[in-house]
Amino acid sequence: MKDPVVIHKGLDNVYVKESKICFIDGEASRLFYRGYSIEDLAAHSTFEETVYLLIYGTLPTKQQLQDFEKRISANRSLEPGMQQLLRSFPTTSDPMDVLRTAVSAMGLYDPQPATDKTEERIDKALRILGKAPTIIAAFDRLRNKKEPIPPESNLTHSANFLKMLIGKVPDPYVAHVMDVALILHAEHEMNASTFSCTVTASTLADMYSIITSGIGTLRGPLHGGANEAALKTVLEVGDSSRAEEYVTKALAEKKRIMGFGHRVYRTWDPRYVILKKLGKELASKEGQTKLFETAEAIEQSALKHLAGSSIFPNVDSYSGVVFHTLGIPTDLFTPVFAMSRISGWTAHAIEYLEANRLIRPKALYVGPTSLPYTPIDARTS
Ligand code: ACO
Repeated sequence: MKDPVVIHKGLDNVYVKESKICFIDGEASRLFYRGYSIEDLAAHSTFEETVYLLIYGTLPTKQQLQDFEKRISANRSLEPGMQQLLRSFPTTSDPMDVLRTAVSAMGLYDPQPATDKTEERIDKALRILGKAPTIIAAFDRLRNKKEPIPPESNLTHSANFLKMLIGKVPDPYVAHVMDVALILHAEHEMNASTFSCTVTASTLADMYSIITSGIGTLRGPLHGGANEAALKTVLEVGDSSRAEEYVTKALAEKKRIMGFGHRVYRTWDPRYVILKKLGKELASKEGQTKLFETAEAIEQSALKHLAGSSIFPNVDSYSGVVFHTLGIPTDLFTPVFAMSRISGWTAHAIEYLEANRLIRPKALYVGPTSLPYTPIDARTS
């Protein structure tokens, strides 16, 4: 007798591969990239080093890191055609749509986008990783009627991005906060966008198609878009004194509190813990504590109302506050998330391709069959 069909809606608890990239213990609030705790990486690593770790599986030596940093920074400039393309976009475009379209177009400027060699795939991924900040910052400048600021190869990934966006080299503390935020967003196991990338990789498509798939999936409000939604909530609430009223009303109307809840974490998201601490420090250094205090009041109120439900704050409850305080416009939050996550997507695509199998699940058909075809003129409704 055939086994009964089990439908895994949302693919909850379905494993698609073995992986050595990321481990999340959602019950114990633990997250590891390649065996290293997120707390250690946030405290001691850099974004570039974390990217190396995710893709190659080990921490680099000093020389390996220097070479890798050069490999990324050498990719920062955009071809004239890409620059023209950015100028041709409507200034009202959503920056996430711009990033998705630009990454897809980047493949057109690669004479040989497809390859079956791992190191060449990594080269292409680093081309995308190197140029993504330039695309995001340039589009933001163009839509504000300002000329894009060319990238600088001697700055770190984070400092160069902020310089291209804001117009001045950030002070080391600000660049460090940006760097930690990028580290925290770099990888998170088999989430929706990583799965998208893995599906595309399994068809043996090129890296541009793989990363474009990931950006499209990350765009949705239940995934990458939650950071924008969470900040909008904080701005809308406006003051810590109004947090309780907001949360009570939202929950009574069965609305979700953005920045809360997670498919895997049933306790504190460890990235939230790091970002909250950093956000508090940054807010007080920059003298902008009101936003942080409002976010904290929303958090406290939501925690009280959701007590016993296993819904806890996730990374997005403070990422928006941190990005906003860094001077990043709200609709760039998800592109910035993508800019970092390109590393995790790449690591998973490369790992999956080491023992590839085309991903092709099934849908259980429950509709009719053998219906008589009615000519269009004979149809009544
Ligand atoms: N606020 C209020 N209630 C919530 C929240 C929330 N943020 N999240 C889940 N719930 C409730 C649901 O309404 C549901 O209640 P019900 O059983 O009475 O219908 C219950 O908790 C379970 O919800 P699910 O959707 O099954 O939880 P799931 O694990 O699938 O969802 C998700 C996870 C999509 C992240 C959800 O918590 C959510 O929508 N959160 C808000 C958006 C958000 O912050 N996303 C960022 C995730 S992190 C990231 O992608 C980087």
